[in-house]
Amino acid sequence: MTDERFRTIGATTYLCPTPTVLVGCAEQDGWKTGTGGANLVTVAWTGICCTKPPVLSISLRPERHSHGLILRSGEFTVNLVGEALLYAMDFCGVKSGREVDKFAALGLTAMRAEGLNTAPALMEAPAYLSCRVRQVLALGSHDLFLADIVEVCVNERYIRADGSLDETAMRLIAHVHGKYRVMGAEAGFFGFSVAGEKALRRRAPYLYPDGRPEADTSAGAGDAPRRKPAGGSAAGGLAGKPRRKAAQNAANHETDRKPRPGPAGKPLSGGKRGGKP
Ligand SMILES: Cc1cc2nc3c(=O)[nH]c(=O)nc-3n(C[C@H](O)[C@H](O)[C@H](O)COP(=O)(O)O)c2cc1C
Repeated sequence: MTDERFRTIGATTYLCPTPTVLVGCAEQDGWKTGTGGANLVTVAWTGICCTKPPVLSISLRPERHSHGLILRSGEFTVNLVGEALLYAMDFCGVKSGREVDKFAALGLTAMRAEGLNTAPALMEAPAYLSCRVRQVLALGSHDLFLADIVEVCVNERYIRADGSLDETAMRLIAHVHGKYRVMGAEAGFFGFSVAGEKALRRRAPYLYPDGRPEADTSAGAGDAPRRKPAGGSAAGGLAGKPRRKAAQNAANHETDRKPRPGPAGKPLSGGKRGGKP
C-alpha cells in the first residue's frame, strides 16, 4: 500500500549524496616521460564495497575513453575532490580524453601513484586511492569495476599534528542529483549516539553550546546536548545500548585513523536528470 504523503518518481538513481571523484587512468606509463596519455574522468557512481580487504567500485559506460584505458591497464586512482578542484571535476566530466589532454588543459599535474605502475594520481587532490581492478561486471548502461584499494595517500596539508585527517579543511564535494554541494560542518561521528560524555566533549565539542572541548564533566554533566529526535522516537533512545559493540563498530569504520607512515508515478521535474552519469 502506498502512502499519499509520498509521490513515486520511478526506479531511478536517486541516491543522495554520492561522492564525485576524479579517476586517474592511462593505458601506458609514457606520460611519466612527458609523452601524454594520462587521463582524468569524473565519476559519481562510486562507493566502498568492502572493508577487509578494502575494495571499492566505480561504474563507467563502455563508451568512455577511460573505460578502455582502465580495462587494458587494470589500474586507476580515485582522487578526492575538494572545492578547489570543482571546476576541473566538472570539466573532466564533460570533455573526453579522446579529444583533449585534460591535465594540460586544466594545468593539473599527473604524478606516479603509490603502489601502481601505470595510472597517474592527481597532485592537486587532497587525497587519492590507488586501485587495482579485480573484476568487471556488465550491468547495462555501465560496467562496474570492482577494485582492490592497494594504497591511500593524503596530502600532508590535511594531516593534523596528532595524525588525524582533516576532511573539513578538504571542503569535499558531493554529487546531489546532478548538482554539486560543498560538504558542510561536522555533525557527529560514528557511534556518537552512544558515546560517553568525555568522548563527546573531546571528539564533538561543537555539540556543546558552552564550546568547551575538555570541559569539567563532574559538575553540570547533565547538560550534554544529546541530539534525540523530537517526539520520543525509538530511534533516539540511548538508554541501555550495548556500548562496547558500538565502539567496535565505530573502530571498524573509523575514517580518521592515524595514517601509516610512508611516502607520503509522475516524475518530479528533473527526476531523470539525476541519472545522468
Ligand atoms: C558530476 C559527473 C559525474 C559523472 N559520473 C560518471 C560515472 O559515474 N560514470 C560514467 O561513466 N560517467 C560519468 N560522468 C561522465 C563522464 O565523466 C564524461 O562522459 C567524461 O567526459 C568521460 O571522459 P573520458 O571519455 O575521457 O573517459 C560524470 C560526469 C559528471 C559531470
